[in-house]
Amino acid sequence: MKTSKKPLKISFSTQKGGVGKSTLTTLVASVLHYRLGYNVVVIDCDFPQHSLTHMRERDKNNIIQNEYHKKAAMKQFHNINKKAYPIIKTKSQYALDKAAEYEEKSPVTPDVIFFDLPGTANTTGVLTTLKMMDFIFSPITADRLVVESSLSFSKAFLELPKTVEGNEKQELWLFWNQVDGREKTELYAAYQNVIEALKIPLMQTKIRDSKRFRKETDGTENYIFRSSLLPAEVNLLKATRMNLFIYEFLKITHL
Ligand SMILES: Nc1ncnc2c1ncn2[C@@H]1O[C@H](COP(=O)(O)OP(=O)(O)OP(=O)(O)O)[C@@H](O)[C@H]1O
Ligand SMILES: [Mg+2]
Repeated sequence: MKTSKKPLKISFSTQKGGVGKSTLTTLVASVLHYRLGYNVVVIDCDFPQHSLTHMRERDKNNIIQNEYHKKAAMKQFHNINKKAYPIIKTKSQYALDKAAEYEEKSPVTPDVIFFDLPGTANTTGVLTTLKMMDFIFSPITADRLVVESSLSFSKAFLELPKTVEGNEKQELWLFWNQVDGREKTELYAAYQNVIEALKIPLMQTKIRDSKRFRKETDGTENYIFRSSLLPAEVNLLKATRMNLFIYEFLKITHL
């Protein structure tokens, strides 16, 4: 049944490349869709790489070829009997229209639509699409260049004049990703002071640096982490702090 509630538009986004936008999109989307009962849609606007669209293909192959994944998929099908969330491939400038088109024709209203946008803000359509998001979650890593470019971008973005097209209730949150648990506490504290002074909200959860994120399933692993067809295993979510991240994410978005 369609409800009148509008789906939330959310983007993991930052100007800096390679800090975890696509990875976080997949991890959060899969846990929400397959484990927590939400209906999710992903719009893959990262032209021309379309990393999420390609990942879906690899995930399908894994389920066919890898016994561990196959078993998990069968079990999931038995338990929730739910279709995989769509990953819709497009370009940034068409992303909002594509999402609206999907909403229109889908028998169930999605609860959340994730937009995976290209890193470079000056790609056509990125800024206009970002302006319409309900929430932007922006990963930062403890690297001077990453922090500086992310903060200056966030600041500039938040200061863009409020136009009719913008979403006035939009919230932008920063979060730490790839955190090495053992060191650099002073560095994080120093950056946190700067972030606070700029009045940009920062999430409490620090996502750990872990090889699990890097290792794309090559068909031999006996675990599930980053997959668009299966949710990450609970013990791995805990080990990486992703469980706390998702908890905080749900609190912020009121999903
Ligand atoms: N917490 C983490 N620990 C270790 N590696 C991570 C973590 N988060 C992301 N990575 C790795 O960093 C790399 C870049 O991540 P990802 O592709 O998600 O970034 P992106 O921001 O989408 O990049 P792009 O700008 O190219 O689209 C990937 O190899 C990913 O597995
Ligand atoms: Mg990406």
